[in-house]
Amino acid sequence: MRNPGLLRPSTHEFLQENSRVFGDIVHYKAFGRHVFQFNHPEMVQEVLIRDAAMQHRGIVMQRAKFVLGEGLLTSEEPLHMRQRRLVQPSFHRGRIAAYGHTMSQFACAMTDAWKSGTTLDMHRAMLQLTLRITGKCLFDTDVASEVQTISDSVTAFMGFLPLAFLPFPQLVLKMPFGFTRRIRKSQKKLDAMIYSMIAERRHSGQDHGDLLSMLLASQDTEGGTGAMNDRQIRDECLTLLLAGHETTANGLSFIFFLMAQHPEIQERVFEEAARVFAAVPVNATETYERLRYTQRVVSEALRLYPPVWVVARAVAVPYEYRGLAIPAGSLLLVPQIAIHRDPRFYPDPLRFDPDRFLPEISANRPRYAYFPFGAGSRVCIGENFAWMEAVLVLADVVRKWRLTFPAGASKELALSAQISLRPRDGVPLIVTRRA
Ligand code: HEM
Repeated sequence: MRNPGLLRPSTHEFLQENSRVFGDIVHYKAFGRHVFQFNHPEMVQEVLIRDAAMQHRGIVMQRAKFVLGEGLLTSEEPLHMRQRRLVQPSFHRGRIAAYGHTMSQFACAMTDAWKSGTTLDMHRAMLQLTLRITGKCLFDTDVASEVQTISDSVTAFMGFLPLAFLPFPQLVLKMPFGFTRRIRKSQKKLDAMIYSMIAERRHSGQDHGDLLSMLLASQDTEGGTGAMNDRQIRDECLTLLLAGHETTANGLSFIFFLMAQHPEIQERVFEEAARVFAAVPVNATETYERLRYTQRVVSEALRLYPPVWVVARAVAVPYEYRGLAIPAGSLLLVPQIAIHRDPRFYPDPLRFDPDRFLPEISANRPRYAYFPFGAGSRVCIGENFAWMEAVLVLADVVRKWRLTFPAGASKELALSAQISLRPRDGVPLIVTRRA
C-alpha cells in the first residue's frame, strides 16, 4: 500500500502487515471494527452518494451531540434533510456576495495593523480572521469585545473534540479538571451569547442581513414543519461557527505557506490582484470571478492539503460492495488526502502546480478525483462561502504584502492530521509591505 505522505512510518507498517488490498479498497481491523478505505474517485460517488442510505454519521459525531446538539454536522436523517432545507437559503449565492464585502473589509483591517518586516504566525492570524468573519456574517457582530469572547470561548470549546473519541465523554466533561472546567465555562458563555441574540432578534424583528436573521426567518414549507425553535437555531449557529472557521483558517495557512515556498506563483497572484483591484470591481462576486489564477491557486492548495482529509461513515445495515461483504458497524473511510495525491490523476502529485486546474486540464480528470468539500447530501454547506473567503483574503493580502520564510525556518510543511488537517508548528512568515 502506498503512503500518501501523511501516515507515520509505524502506522504505515501496521497497515502493510495487517491490511488486505482489493484493488482500490483497503481492509483492516482496528479496535475490533472492520475498516474499509476506498481509494478511487468512482468509489467516492458510490460510497458517499449511491450507498448513503446504508450509513450514518458514526460514533464520534454521535458523541459530539452532547455539546453541538442536533446541528447539520451531527444530525441523522430525516432531521438532517429538514435542517439542510432550512439552512440552505443562508448560503445562497446572492447572500455570499454580501458576505464577500465583509471578508475583504476584515482582511484589510487585519493587514492594516501589520508592521512591515515582522514575523507573524499566519496560522494564528488566520484563525482570528476567519472567526471574526464568521462571527460578523453569522451574528452581525464586530464589536471587538464580543469577538474576543467568541474567540476565547470557541478556542476552549474546540478542546471538547478529542473527548468525542473517548467512551462516555459526558462523564469525562463533568470531572473537575482544568480543561473540562474551561470547556464547560466556554459552552455556557457561547450559549448565553447565542440565546440572548436570538431573544433580542425575535423581540425586535429586525433583519440584520446576517445568517442568524436568515435562520430565524426560514420556514420549512416543503416538509410542512414550520420554522426552527431556539434550541435548533442555537445548534446550527454553534455548528456553523465551529465548522466554518477552523477549516478555512487551516486552508488559508497552507496557502500562505505555499506562497512563501513558491515566490514566482506569489508574484502571479500579486499581478492578477493588482490588475483586478485597479479596475474597481462593482462587487465581491465580480472581483471573485475575475481572480481566475488566484482561484486556481486555492484549488491546488486544497488538493495538496485538504483541511478535511478524510470523510468517515459508519455502516447502519450490512450490504455488499463490489463483491465484498460490508458488516454493520464497519467504518468506511474515503480519504481526500490519498485520492488528491494519486499519480493516476495528478502526475507528480506532490508538486504544487495551480495550472492543473485550468479548465481544459481538469476536464480530463474523473469528477470525484477532487472533493475537498465532500460529496452527496452531506457535502459542505459552506463551500461557496469558503471559496469566496479564501480567494478574497489571499488576493487582499498578497496585493499589499510579500510573504517570505524567516531565516533558518523549515521550508517543508509539518502537518498534524486530527479531525482536520492543520499545520503542526504554525506558519511563521515575514510580512513585507510592497512598494
Ligand atoms: C476550506 C474550508 C472548508 C472545507 C475544506 C470544508 C470541508 C467540509 C467537508 C469535507 C464536509 C463534509 C463532511 C462529511 O461528509 O462528513 C463539510 C461539511 C460541513 N461544512 Fe464545511 N468546509 C469548509 C468550510 C466551511 C464553512 C465556511 C462553513 C460554514 C460557514 C462550513 C460548514 C459545514 C457544515 C455545516 C457541514 C455539515 C453539512 C451537512 O452534513 O449537511 N464549512 N465541510
